[in-house]
Amino acid sequence: MSKFMDWIDARFPATKMWEDHLSKYYAPKNFNFLYFFGSLALLVLVNQIVTGVWLTMSFTPSAEEAFASVEYIMRDVEYGWILRYLHSTGASAFFIVVYLHMFRGLLYGSYQKPRELVWLFGMLIYLALMAEAFMGYLLPWGQMSYWGAQVIISLFGAIPVIGDDLTQWIRGDYLISGITLNRFFALHVVALPIVILGLVVLHILALHEVGSNNPDGVDIKKKKDENGIPLDGIPFHPYYTVKDIVGVVVFLFVFCAVVFFFPEMGGYFLEKPNFEQANAFKTPEHIAPVWYFTPFYAILRAVPDKLMGVIAMGAAIAVLFVLPWLDRSPVKSMRYKGWISKAFLLVFCVAFVILGVLGVLAPTPGRTLLSQVCTVLYFAYFLLMPFYTRLEKTKPVPERVTG
Ligand code: HEM
Repeated sequence: MSKFMDWIDARFPATKMWEDHLSKYYAPKNFNFLYFFGSLALLVLVNQIVTGVWLTMSFTPSAEEAFASVEYIMRDVEYGWILRYLHSTGASAFFIVVYLHMFRGLLYGSYQKPRELVWLFGMLIYLALMAEAFMGYLLPWGQMSYWGAQVIISLFGAIPVIGDDLTQWIRGDYLISGITLNRFFALHVVALPIVILGLVVLHILALHEVGSNNPDGVDIKKKKDENGIPLDGIPFHPYYTVKDIVGVVVFLFVFCAVVFFFPEMGGYFLEKPNFEQANAFKTPEHIAPVWYFTPFYAILRAVPDKLMGVIAMGAAIAVLFVLPWLDRSPVKSMRYKGWISKAFLLVFCVAFVILGVLGVLAPTPGRTLLSQVCTVLYFAYFLLMPFYTRLEKTKPVPERVTG
């Protein structure tokens, strides 16, 4: 075995990569359960790719046959139902895991210097993931696939001058048609997965260059032993590989429960109108995107003017990109920030969830007002951050991690 590895290592840095990224990658010893979600996102990514490849084997990307081919997968293809439910549940699981992963970043200031690029690559992944989910949703060619895409693509029409040409260019037709379905299929199955995989590699390389943050926000590289090993660091393998398996087991337990017992999740993971084939002449009574887009959809609807709504929705995502430069706090972790930061993060999370709920419901004057209040709170968290993080009193950060 060792002769074999010597042969490989003389030609390819296998052992070096294993050591750099696993057995000699020193991670802080105080990771908590919130650190499970990075590896869980990797797991879900692999699940989406594997089940996606198998679904593609039986799916027909044409307006005439797409809907029927999904039913064929569900009823006739051996284990087709499980492949589809793993993939559709995986889409929602991806966003649950990624939202918790991002929340951890907000909580412990993991986007701050020197991890700005880790955050930026993460945000690019998030954008690509939203595009991937949006395009995947058109493929089963159900009523919500069609009309959801109709609403979102028509938003580009609000852009002055180029709007109409742009929507036509995206659709490839004067209305959403088989041509749109075909190009979304190509992007969903080939282009975007490659982009996402590439970005995940960059995300992890950037993280391993600077080292992981931790719940205390303490830089473990400042205190090293005589061999240059951080005193508060432990090798990722075997310590965190084993710990992450615990997270995987708990996750799979919940994930499988959904796949086997509640694959539609009350219409949130698979929406009810999508069990009816797309019909360009029949608008569903109430069009709502899938739950993971609804906070942004609620922001869009909160603004009365269409163009301003589109700008607000875009800004809600764009502002996350500049987060590393908005936080001026001398400390990273929420543990040592002042009460204003804590209150703003709490209010932000509550506003985000309320916006998510409002985005699913049909608008009423009261709900619109509430979504306007939550939109203001959403932006206040970011736009006031340069001020409150500088003004508030922080607690002293310990020299070593606190267990
Ligand atoms: C496919 C999606 C993603 C995958 C597979 C992924 C994977 C990972 C992994 C494996 C880690 C190291 C383990 C951990 O700290 O949990 C990590 C860390 C990190 N990720 Fe992601 N990530 C994804 C999306 C994102 C997004 C959308 C963001 C934020 C915009 C983000 C921000 C971060 C940050 C800031 C860290 C460092 C955390 C720290 O050291 O405290 N990631 N990611």
